Amino acid sequence: EPVLASSLGFCKPVPVLKGAPLHCCLPAPRRFPIRFRFPRIPRTFSGRPILRERKPAHILQNDPEYVRKYNLAYARMKALPDTDPRSFLNQWRVHCSFCNEAFRQRKTPGPLGPETGVLLQVHYSWTFLPWHRMYLYYHERILASLINDPTFALPFWNWDNQLDQDAAKMPAMFLPNFGIPNAALFDEFRNSNHFPPKLLYLGYNSKLEAEGQQNLTDQQIKYENLCVMYNQVTTKISARDFLGGPYVVGTDNSAATVNVSAGETPGESGGMESVHNVAHEWTGLINDPDHPDNEDMGNFIYAARDPIFYTHHSNVDRLWDVWKTIPDKVTKSGDRKRMDFMSRDFLDTEFTFFDENQDMVIVKVRDSLDSSKLGYKYTDVSESDNMWIY
Ligand code: C2O
Repeated sequence: EPVLASSLGFCKPVPVLKGAPLHCCLPAPRRFPIRFRFPRIPRTFSGRPILRERKPAHILQNDPEYVRKYNLAYARMKALPDTDPRSFLNQWRVHCSFCNEAFRQRKTPGPLGPETGVLLQVHYSWTFLPWHRMYLYYHERILASLINDPTFALPFWNWDNQLDQDAAKMPAMFLPNFGIPNAALFDEFRNSNHFPPKLLYLGYNSKLEAEGQQNLTDQQIKYENLCVMYNQVTTKISARDFLGGPYVVGTDNSAATVNVSAGETPGESGGMESVHNVAHEWTGLINDPDHPDNEDMGNFIYAARDPIFYTHHSNVDRLWDVWKTIPDKVTKSGDRKRMDFMSRDFLDTEFTFFDENQDMVIVKVRDSLDSSKLGYKYTDVSESDNMWIY
């Protein structure tokens, strides 16, 4: 049975290692929740859809006009009152609550249906990619509406790209002393040892780094990054291997079910989620005794407090689209492309978000599967994709 939208009626604080438990609960909706509808997509005179284009961060940061808009959108989002579901605080809370078991799963649709006792967790399963796609979809629409620019699109941090000089570095537009005002994109809780010119290493392991065992040359990092992408994306042919295992009513993927400090994860993550975790850990404060929670990016509880989170996830989301275009070579079944799950349990799974009008919206996984229907696309960077695909 699919997990349906939560009423968000029950909400518990989220424990952290240092400090008091965090309050990640969301403001109550002003109106009754509405059902998702596909956005109306503008068209050219000849009828071609005009999609928002998400471009690589390492390219966009050379465009002062884009950086100015991007920073302004976050500045305005951060200035909204705490009661506004569009505020940066509440955008963070959406991730913190759904990703750290503040809510309960529910059984039947509608805001009054009964809940199961199981806590809601959107990581570690097939909900990972669809949930984060819809999270970014609304986040982007909110940013766009705050600067009255319907064409505004998030950048993507193209860390799998080993071809372009700056692609796998922490994008400079998020860092201090960038030159163009970018204060709203900055976050102090990042690992400064990994600032440029360091390359994001997809085989990164903080324990090994602490033991001095991760001193690789750029050449080695690039080579290993291609191997990681090949192993976690190209060779993951089935939906289950790429997106993750089933998540249905009663599935308990809460962190409490495993020994997290021993490196265990609950549920069954797909290859895409595993790669994504590494970039989180590499970006946050790690191996710092004052920050045992590895904030911000190194811990799902805090991660969405860092604006870089959304550009990281933009690349994860892009790679889902790329994965579907990889011809299935391994089974030699001709040109078959990889496919998402087709079961009702997957397609009818529901999520709850707030949109740019502050309305609570109920979305189904089936609505998330085609990014063009959601009105956006990614810049084609197949030259670098193909380096790890083949
Ligand atoms: Cu919900 Cu990158 O995590």
